[in-house]
Amino acid sequence: MERVRREAERDFPAVADRPGLDALYARDLARKGRIAVLFDQLAGLEPAARRTTGQLLNELKQHVTALHAAAATRVASPRSTHRGLDPTLPGRPHWLARPHVLSQVVDEIVEIFKGLGFGVADGPEIELDRYNFEALNFPADHPARDLQDTFYVDDAVLLRTQTSPMQVRILQRQPAPVRVIVPGRVFRNEALDATHAAEFNQVEGLYVDAHVSMVDLKATVTYFLRQLFGPRTAARFKPHFFPFTEPSVDVDMWFEAGGKSGWIEIMGAGMVHPNVFAAAGLDPETTTGFAFGLGVERVAMLRHGIGDIRAFLENDVRFLSQF
Ligand code: PHE
Repeated sequence: MERVRREAERDFPAVADRPGLDALYARDLARKGRIAVLFDQLAGLEPAARRTTGQLLNELKQHVTALHAAAATRVASPRSTHRGLDPTLPGRPHWLARPHVLSQVVDEIVEIFKGLGFGVADGPEIELDRYNFEALNFPADHPARDLQDTFYVDDAVLLRTQTSPMQVRILQRQPAPVRVIVPGRVFRNEALDATHAAEFNQVEGLYVDAHVSMVDLKATVTYFLRQLFGPRTAARFKPHFFPFTEPSVDVDMWFEAGGKSGWIEIMGAGMVHPNVFAAAGLDPETTTGFAFGLGVERVAMLRHGIGDIRAFLENDVRFLSQF
């Protein structure tokens, strides 16, 4: 009995895993284990000795059963005996990568238009004058070019000032009907301040089919803005001029946030100009369509209450980690 107790007290606390524990159980506690064998031997004792020894054996069995139970709990959750672990220490923060706030906004916009059956395309940031201006009905001497001065590689090659050149590139390679959006970076020679950057992002939209009207444009734009900014959002068209749309509009959006509300200009849009269809090799008599161009930074600034457009490019982790 003394040897069984000593070895059980040595072995159960030291056992490391389930198979080891099961082996100890078989040795000491099972139906043919050492304690059962000791109980069998009681039969050969005098009645008085049998009673006192039987009592001691019962105590031994209880003791070893408790040792087994403690070991079983420990083996089931092995970490609790890990000496190097101090659960009172503060955790180490993980650095989780995530998309830039502008990419998040673009992704949201893309998802909304995908739901309307629009595909997604992208195009070159270094663009030909021919696509950025000429095919969009800005002849070389047109004053509308002054509003979109940019960085020139040479006379024929420039950093695109808008995503609109993709209207022509897409129409040249794909027959109508066309439903596509084009997110992308654009460039302008701007004096930098809180609302002007020389490098920013647009999402172009283009919808071309046989009987597209301003109604389709307004319904699409309104639906889109409500998805993005909530059901109380409204859209308002103001007459405007772009060489590549006719008629052209500026789209204002009714915006409410943080106790403030008002109309704010959110995109340019219009019906695709016949000269653009002609430049793309389509029949301007039978083809109709609308286009719009949306400023991504503007949306992100409204969305998150960001006051300075330069924050997007500064790569300050304190700014970026907020989104
Ligand atoms: N490309 C125009 C701009 O950058 C926006 C626009 C796109 C207007 C499509 C009409 C249609 O200002």
